[in-house]
Amino acid sequence: MKWKSEYATGIHNLDNQHRTILEIITRFERMGEGRAHWDQVHPLVQSTRRFMEYHFDVEESLMRLIPYSELRTHRDEHRNALARIADIERRVGRESARDRVAPAMKTLLLGHITGSDRRFAQCALDLFRRRPFGAGNDGAHRLRGPE
Ligand SMILES: [Fe+2]
Ligand SMILES: [Fe+2]
Repeated sequence: MKWKSEYATGIHNLDNQHRTILEIITRFERMGEGRAHWDQVHPLVQSTRRFMEYHFDVEESLMRLIPYSELRTHRDEHRNALARIADIERRVGRESARDRVAPAMKTLLLGHITGSDRRFAQCALDLFRRRPFGAGNDGAHRLRGPE
């Protein structure tokens, strides 16, 4: 899967993690085409769940820092996504479920990035534009990333 501008949040660190998510989806798609055995797919689902737990923690920390008014709704989406991934993890041993892993991951993760994540990032970036850190010792460039 290629990175598209519609996936970009404008927050450098988040975009880097979202690129990793795209790479993960690509790996699932390749496994689907190659009819991979469950003992190859299962560890990838497991490591995806761990990576997503980390990624969601990073986003939620940022939301608390802002603070973001839609944190609760966004966090619920994260929890639902983790529950779905855990469900996939449980079912991946079944032949019929294996074919559905790649499309399920794609819908779940890309939908969240282009919807809720971009909405949150827009809000965070607007806030930093209105309330920039003091010159010299600021952290805004790290949040914003290269223009
Ligand atoms: Fe995200
Ligand atoms: Fe998110």
